Amino acid sequence: MPKQELPVVKASLRDLAHLRRLERQCFSREDIWPLIELLGVLVSPGTVRLKVDDGEEMVAFLSGEVQRAKQVGWIGTIGVAPRWRHKGLGRRLLAAGEQAMGMPTIRLSVRKSNQDAIRLYEKAGYNPIGEIKRYYNGGEDALVYEKKLPNLRENSTTPIG
Ligand SMILES: CC(C)(COP(=O)(O)OP(=O)(O)OC[C@H]1O[C@@H](n2cnc3c(N)ncnc32)[C@H](O)[C@@H]1OP(=O)(O)O)[C@@H](O)C(=O)NCCC(=O)NCCS
Repeated sequence: MPKQELPVVKASLRDLAHLRRLERQCFSREDIWPLIELLGVLVSPGTVRLKVDDGEEMVAFLSGEVQRAKQVGWIGTIGVAPRWRHKGLGRRLLAAGEQAMGMPTIRLSVRKSNQDAIRLYEKAGYNPIGEIKRYYNGGEDALVYEKKLPNLRENSTTPIG
């Protein structure tokens, strides 16, 4: 029997403890978001929050901020637990986040050295549009990427995930 893909579903405040655990697995100390920011991401209006659970715990998470006035969605964070990487979860989560934000332009920033993430974004159709010097803790530059979603019209009313 073919193995079923784990579904991408909405996350909520109930996921806070799982999200904290996943963050610690995905990011170095200098990049882990403080509790207050994780809380914000799980409750703020205008924010898309999606997760993948393996039945026991959260194994992937994405957040995105919808800037409706500018018609832009910003991916805030994306992470997949190390043992679940290279199985297509990152690609599926990113695609689901783009759809849920419902904006014609999606942007994100990434550390210049983060080759895994850069490959994921470039394969998913993102193009580099600029750099922000010393954006990250520790002084590393950010690359800013952008993707146009031509099928989405301006002023889309797609509901937020
Ligand atoms: C970046 C990140 C989210 C990618 O997640 P992922 O689930 O591994 O991504 P995918 O599986 O969709 O794609 C990764 C690779 O697996 C490959 N892959 C996808 N499905 C596959 C499968 N069934 N079998 C084998 N390989 C597969 C993809 O082709 C891709 O290959 P590449 O790296 O050679 O291009 C993950 O590495 C991560 O969480 N990193 C730490 C947090 C982070 O840096 N986040 C980004 C901040 S900007």
